[in-house]
Amino acid sequence: MKRTHTCGELRPEHLGQEVCLQGWVRFSRDHGGVLFFDLADAYGITQLVYDPEDVDDGVDKEALLGIVHTFSRESVVSVNGLVRERVPGTEDDRNATGRVEVLITDAELLNHSRAPPFELGDQKEFLLPGEDMRLRYRYLDLRRTEMASALRFRHRFVSLARRFLEEEGFVEVETPMLCRSTPEGARDFLVPSRVHPGSFYALPQSPQLFKQMLMVGGLDRYYQLARCFRDEDSRADRQPEFTQLDLEMSFVDRDDIIRAIEGMMAYIWKGLYGVELQTPFPHISFAEAMSRYGSDKPDLRFGLPLVDVTDIVRDAPYEIFQRILAKEGVIVGVNVKSSLAGAEGVGRNEIDRLIAWAKKQGMGGMTWMRATADGLDSNIVKYFTPEVIASLRQSMDAEEGDLLLFLAGPQKRVLEAGGLLRQKLAEDLGLIPENSFQFLWLVDCPMFEKDAVTGRLDAFHHPFVRPCGDLESSQMGGESYDLVLNGVELGSGSLRNHDPEVQRRIFRLLGMSDEKIEEDFGFFLEALSYGAPPHGGIALGIDRVISILLGKESIREVIAFPKNKKAQSLVDGSPRKVEDEKLSELQIMSVAFDDLDLEDLE
Ligand code: AMO
Repeated sequence: MKRTHTCGELRPEHLGQEVCLQGWVRFSRDHGGVLFFDLADAYGITQLVYDPEDVDDGVDKEALLGIVHTFSRESVVSVNGLVRERVPGTEDDRNATGRVEVLITDAELLNHSRAPPFELGDQKEFLLPGEDMRLRYRYLDLRRTEMASALRFRHRFVSLARRFLEEEGFVEVETPMLCRSTPEGARDFLVPSRVHPGSFYALPQSPQLFKQMLMVGGLDRYYQLARCFRDEDSRADRQPEFTQLDLEMSFVDRDDIIRAIEGMMAYIWKGLYGVELQTPFPHISFAEAMSRYGSDKPDLRFGLPLVDVTDIVRDAPYEIFQRILAKEGVIVGVNVKSSLAGAEGVGRNEIDRLIAWAKKQGMGGMTWMRATADGLDSNIVKYFTPEVIASLRQSMDAEEGDLLLFLAGPQKRVLEAGGLLRQKLAEDLGLIPENSFQFLWLVDCPMFEKDAVTGRLDAFHHPFVRPCGDLESSQMGGESYDLVLNGVELGSGSLRNHDPEVQRRIFRLLGMSDEKIEEDFGFFLEALSYGAPPHGGIALGIDRVISILLGKESIREVIAFPKNKKAQSLVDGSPRKVEDEKLSELQIMSVAFDDLDLEDLE
């Protein structure tokens, strides 16, 4: 038997045709000797029926019944049959094949299946098991329509991206997986070398250095669907192994790269949704993003901007504010306008819950006021003069009924908590519209940030960003740009240092000695010294963009075989211990800390 159609193909126009279908038996039911089966494959589900009354006399019904009785859940079967109309009233219009069924005339069991550990149907009544169970049997989970269509969507996205980039003259190049460490801010996964005992490769955190060396090599326009590896804690939007759409271009400025990405996104949008994506995307500076939205990846699908009122309330004799101002803190407010959907319900109880929430974020508390017809109402307004109240109302655009919330404390902490407060309010009040996609470019980021504990300078992005202007100031900005979608950083890129001396000075500013620079990056500085062209690029996180477009909570939902929250691959049981023999080949000794006798180490 060879299949003539897929399980998603048959329609009323096929009525009366002899067909052969192959797939998995998802459900079966017995209606008084008439047996119904749902046969599923990658394309859909078709109803099969074994009906002894209706099959031709030429068919050996007993033998056929014997075969269909072996059709257990998820067994793989092949059936020949006749396409016929469903009994009126039993059609299923949610299913594209739901107007027809196939009357089985011949059947074969192609492979038996053990009873699956969870239901694979898409019906709401079947609750999915815990994620670890799904990941342990991911090959079964992938049979569910939701997972299968997520992977197909991902494929379409990537294939449109490829088509666009190829039309624009980009060349796909594979860069090495076994290489030297690339500093992207995470720990490396190391791979021991058997040939050079005691030496290790690192798996790439990104192809950064290689793509820059491709530019030195004259490739001009490179792209790659690059697998990257970072040993960092798993989160909803982080995996130890993930995919970047990585690109690099020579002889370009920042706007050329930004335009290339906007063009690509618009092309993909047209291909996926058939609509024009509005470009260019808005630009917002790092300083504005932090001060107005308390985040370097602001979500602009809703308003609730933060307003710094420090100067307005500076002289008010309200003790809590004064204590914070004495320590050079700031006071930042958010106006929860009464006209916002759901905002009317923010009463005393809800305010108390918000205050408790603010304390959990490490804030001392939260102050609130309610705007009246011409003033402000709260138990602390007595500390504010009519001028201060008028000024607060004006700066926060307050109208009668609006709720004003204030956070006070050290600037960094207040802005971060303010950003989280915006997000919480938007979620609680249902202010985030569905199916809305707000892209923006975050620009004018600093080159460096100071580590709060050590006081050392760290690269804000990575050390290869070209500085804007003078290298002497630690406040200096970098020629970088992050692509943000709905409050998530989708991608990050920059112009690079083609002058090896500038690159060397940045390494020095990051606290590296000349010996260390030579040891870690000598090969790279040498490459730059052979006529590196001005260049720049960007990398987009493919797992992230797909999960946002599909409205998934976690990138694990758009990766075929992801690691779980504990960085384990449950389907193949990795990571796992390795036999001593293999380790000794690599001249590696593994010592479990539990077994360690500390005296041995002394
Ligand atoms: P960056 O480190 O910002 O830049 O990474 C670019 C994008 O990759 C995605 N990403 C991740 N996705 C899933 N899991 C992770 N652990 C993870 N880490 C990063 C994000 C992020 O925006 N070499 C530079 C790019 C460049 O300058 O061209 C780089 O890797 O979506």
